[in-house]
Amino acid sequence: MKRCKPNEPCWCGSGRKYKKCHLAHDVMASLRGDEVPVSQGLRPGQISPRRPVPATIPAPSYALDGRPPRKQLGTLYKPPEQIAAMRAACAIARRILDEVCAAVAVGVTTDSLDALAHARCLELGVYPSPLNYSGFPKSICTSINEVICHGIPDDRPLADGDIVNVDVTVFHQGMHGDCSRTVAVGTIDQASQQLIAVTEQALAAGIQAVVPGAPVSAIGAAIEQVVRPYGYGVVRDFVGHGIGEVFHMDPQVPHYHDRRASFILRPGMTFTIEPMINQGDHRHRLWSDNWTAVTVDGRRSAQCEHTVLVTDNGVEVLTAAPDAGP
Ligand code: MF3
Ligand code: CO
Ligand code: CO
Repeated sequence: MKRCKPNEPCWCGSGRKYKKCHLAHDVMASLRGDEVPVSQGLRPGQISPRRPVPATIPAPSYALDGRPPRKQLGTLYKPPEQIAAMRAACAIARRILDEVCAAVAVGVTTDSLDALAHARCLELGVYPSPLNYSGFPKSICTSINEVICHGIPDDRPLADGDIVNVDVTVFHQGMHGDCSRTVAVGTIDQASQQLIAVTEQALAAGIQAVVPGAPVSAIGAAIEQVVRPYGYGVVRDFVGHGIGEVFHMDPQVPHYHDRRASFILRPGMTFTIEPMINQGDHRHRLWSDNWTAVTVDGRRSAQCEHTVLVTDNGVEVLTAAPDAGP
C-alpha cells in the first residue's frame, strides 16, 4: 500500500525523505489495519502567477519588499481614530470572508477563491494583507483538512467531504482586519462537523474571557476548558496576535493556558483570537514551501478567527457579522 520508496520525498509534501517522515507511521497504520492516508494526503498544487494590485490602492510597506515592519511600530492602545479605522477594515474583511465562504463548493479550486477575494479587495479599495507578507504569494490563506494554517491557494479542486479554512485579512485606512472560519465542502463526516463546532465554541469562549484587567492567559485557559473533554489537540506553535497598523504585533495570544502570558488586557488593545484545533496531535510540520503547516499525524484541523477590541467593560468583536446583535 505504500506509494513512496524509502529514499523518495514523502507523500505528505514535507520535502523530507519518506523514511524520515511518514514511513513508520504508515507501517504502523497498516499493521493496525487502518487505511493508510496515502490517497487522502493533501499535496502541494500549482500556484498561479502573482495577482497585481493597482498603485492607487494604499498598500503596507511589505507589499514592495516583502519585509514585515518591526512589530514595535504598532500602537498598543489605539486612539479613537485608529479604532474607527479598525472597525472599517474589519467590516470589509468580514464581508469578503462571507463572500468567499459562500463560493466554496465541490470542484472549486482554492486559486479561484483567491481570485474572488483579490478582485473584491480591489473593488472595495483595500489591500489583501497576506500578499507578499514575508513573501506569501497569494491574497488569502486556504487551509484544507490536515492543513493547520497558512495554506497557499492552488489549482486543487475542493472535494466532497473536505473542510477548508478561509482566512481573509485586509489593509484599509492604515489598519489591518483579520478573520477566518472553516467551512464544509459538500457533505462532511460527523467527526469533522464536531471538530468545527467545538472550534467555534472555543473561539466564543476565548472572546468571553476578554475583560479589561485580566491577563492574556485567561483566553487560552477558556479555550482549553472547552476543548479538553473532546481530547483534541490545541495548536501551540501558532498564536493570536496584536493587530493594527502592523499585521502581527504584541501581544501574543496563546490558545492554550500559558501562565507566562501575563500581559494585562487594557481598553484600546486590538488583537486576534484564532484557535487551531486538531483531531489528534497538536504539533505541526511545515511543507517545503515553508508556509503550509500540517498536522504531524495527518488528521484534520479546524480554525476560526476574529479581531477584537478591549473596551472599558468587556470586548467588541470587530469582525462580527453586520447583523449581529448589540
Ligand atoms: N491571516 C493569518 C493570521 O491569522 C496570517 C496570514 S500571514 C500570511 O494571522 F502571510 F500567511 F498570509
Ligand atoms: Co487570519
Ligand atoms: Co490572525
